[in-house]
Parts: sequence; C-alpha cells; structure tokens
Amino acid sequence: MNLRERFGRPLRLGLVGGGPESWIGAMHRSAAELDGCFRATAGVFSGDAARSRAAGVRLGFDAARCYGTVAEMLEAERARGDGAQGGIDAVAIMSPNDTHHAYAAAALDAGLDVICDKPVTHNHAEALDLAARARRQGRLFAIAHAYSAYPMTRHARHLVREGMLGAVRLVQVEYIQSGLAVRVEDGALTSRLRWVLDPRRSGQALVMSAIGCHAQHLACFVTGLPVARVMADVGTLMPGREVVDHVSALIELGNGAHAARGAFTVTQAAAGGENDIRLRVYGEKGMLDWNHREAGYLKLALQGEPARLIGRGDPYLPPEVMAAGRTPRGHPEGLREAFANVYAELAQERMALALGEEVPAFPYPRIEDGVHTMAFIEACLASQREGRWVAVAGSPAGLA
Ligand SMILES: NC(=O)c1ccc[n+]([C@@H]2O[C@H](COP(=O)([O-])OP(=O)(O)OC[C@H]3O[C@@H](n4cnc5c(N)ncnc54)[C@H](O)[C@@H]3O)[C@@H](O)[C@H]2O)c1
Repeated sequence: MNLRERFGRPLRLGLVGGGPESWIGAMHRSAAELDGCFRATAGVFSGDAARSRAAGVRLGFDAARCYGTVAEMLEAERARGDGAQGGIDAVAIMSPNDTHHAYAAAALDAGLDVICDKPVTHNHAEALDLAARARRQGRLFAIAHAYSAYPMTRHARHLVREGMLGAVRLVQVEYIQSGLAVRVEDGALTSRLRWVLDPRRSGQALVMSAIGCHAQHLACFVTGLPVARVMADVGTLMPGREVVDHVSALIELGNGAHAARGAFTVTQAAAGGENDIRLRVYGEKGMLDWNHREAGYLKLALQGEPARLIGRGDPYLPPEVMAAGRTPRGHPEGLREAFANVYAELAQERMALALGEEVPAFPYPRIEDGVHTMAFIEACLASQREGRWVAVAGSPAGLA
C-alpha cells in the first residue's frame, strides 16, 4: 500500500482564484487531482462574491462550497469538521499577485497547508512573515515553481549533487517570452491585463513576478546555491512602457563554502519568443543543458567525451527521478505533470506526518525558497537604482 492508500482518503483542497477564464486555474485543479492525493472540493473564484459563486458552479463545484470570500470559505469549511464530508485540509492560491500574502496568511492561521502560486508575495518582508507563520502553525507551504519539478531538472540537480560536474563554475539561465512584445497596454484591457499592468497589483517588477522568479528558482534548485550578489539591468525593451518587461543580471551564487558566476536574462517582450526557459550549468568537468522545449531530455557533456542525451524514463535514472514521471519512456509529459509533482509531494508529506511515519525529503519548492526569491528581486531593483553590485539579503557571501 502506498502512502496515499494508507492515509485512506485524498486531502480536500480549497481553491482561491482560477476562475473559468484563467488557464492556470485548470492547471492547478487537474494537477492537484492527477495522482489522487487531492480532491478540489471548495473555492473562491473571483474577487466579486456573486461572480465567485457562479464561477464555481460553472466549474462543477458543489454550490454550497462555492464561497464569496476567503474568510467565508475558511469559516464554513472549519465548521464542517473532519468527517467523511469534512472541511478542506489545504488551500491553493492562484489569484492576482497582490492577494497572495493576505490569503496565504489567513489559510496558515486557520491551520491549513498552502500551495501558493508565484510570486509568493509582493516583497521580502511579507515572505518572511509567511515563513514565520508556517513554522508557528506547523503547516506546509509549497510554491508553484513547476520547472524545478520536471524529472529532468530533478535529475540535473541529482547529477550536480553527485559531483558529476565537479564544482559549479558558471550558471546561465534565461526565460524568454513574447507576450509583451507588442503594446498590449494600447489595446482593450482584459481583467487579467488590468492587474498585470498595474505595478501596485503585479509586484515590484512585472517580469520578475511573472517569470524571473521561476528562472532564479530553477538555477538555485539545480546548483544547490543561493544567489549571493547581483549587478542588474532592470527596465523595458518596449519604449515608453511603465511596467518592467526585461531584467538582465550578472549574478554570483554561493553558499559560503563555494561560489560560482552566472548570467540571468528574463523578458516577456522578445518578439518570436515562446515559453523559452533554459538552464546551463558548467562545472570543473563538464556541463548540463536543459530547455523547456525538450523538457523530457537533459544534455550532459563532460570535457573530452561524447555528449549524452538523458531521457525521462531511462532505466538507469535514480528512483526519486523516476518517481517524478508517470508514463513509460518516450511518452511526452509536461507542465501538468510537473505541477502534479509539487501537489503530490506536499500531500505525501502531510499524510506521512499525520500517520506518524518517517517523512521522505521531498524537494518541492517551499516558502523558504520564496523568501530567497523575494530578496533576490529586491536586490536586482536596488542594484538598478544604485548602479552597483548588491548583496541578496540572507545569503552567505559569494565570490571574494
Ligand atoms: N506557475 C505558473 O507557471 C503560473 C502561470 C500563470 C499564472 N500564474 C500565477 O497565477 C496567478 C493568476 O494569474 P492568471 O494569469 O490566472 O490571472 P487571471 O487574471 O487570468 O485570473 C485570476 C483569477 O483569480 C480570480 N480572482 C481575482 N481576484 C480574486 C480575489 N480577490 N479572490 C479570489 N479570486 C480572485 C479571477 O476571477 C480569475 O479567475 C498569478 O499570481 C500568476 O502569477 C502562475
């Protein structure tokens, strides 16, 4: 019997955001349920109470569990108790960025685990606050950085940890999109664009809230190194734009004992781009190359040897990497499965804790990762303002 079977039931999930028009909402719901670890049972699907209830019914939820506000959901679900039709065990947050902190804090304070989309908060102080609340309440907190939950990015991390590359010397990470390569601000604004193009709602630097946080998290996850210092160029590729659509930065990664140099480029304004996230890690002995267009493969090139193309499902992969995939070798998997890994790992951790069993060390992104991401974003902005290298709060020193 696996952990889920020993636990006896799926965990019950309450959703915040992700109404019928939001593609990430369908991603969260289907990913949460993919492995039977969660069942989405309740939700708040809009900032408007009547629209929220109507949207939940449209999505097929029990009308009695489609709520008008998050406070109402937390109160009513708590009152359901813990029986067969009991209240939610966890909350998944995929509403606009400016709502994340308040909703996550309320869910933690109500004694629930949280899966929160990125950016986890608007600033470093709010992220620290959520980390403290999660610790105080003994709650689990996952962040939906799904790129670090692909089997092949998990394997890249494994190879770095095993010393396959030797010490990491250089990290190149990029995330290139084209959604802002035209002046969307001059057209009809959808409800999504209204909050995205308002810096008070989307965050201190739009491109970092949208995709830069994923790129930084992936680089740190695979190398095992936090970013220690940055020298950043923060601005716009599109002339006259008010929100930030481009950041390039020189970065130093370091954990005190070891440091590496790096280059970080993210933009949503590169005409012709798709969803091009790519990571290259160069060590003393060789390099790893992963890109999202061929997410099921990882290139490993050791100096002086023929390059190898490692594929998801290859029989020699370690068990924890195998466990991050579901279908046999050669069958493509993608973002939904990577999202599902984040959900399934948090759920299994909660189930193991509830059963008093030993908890495996699952590598899903946690609130502590979000604290570092928010410090990194603030350091990039400070570097742009001050025109100098800036240390990332909380990181050990990088290169001397
Ligand atoms: N992890 C990823 O790869 C990824 C991808 C896309 C979006 N996102 C994140 O998901 C979040 C939503 O982005 P989106 O593109 O779906 O936006 P969106 O505007 O398309 O959808 C937002 C949804 O939240 C609802 N909503 C708005 N205010 C709310 C409130 N106060 N309470 C409850 N629900 C509310 C809206 O009705 C809508 O259904 C953002 O934080 C974004 O960063 C993450």
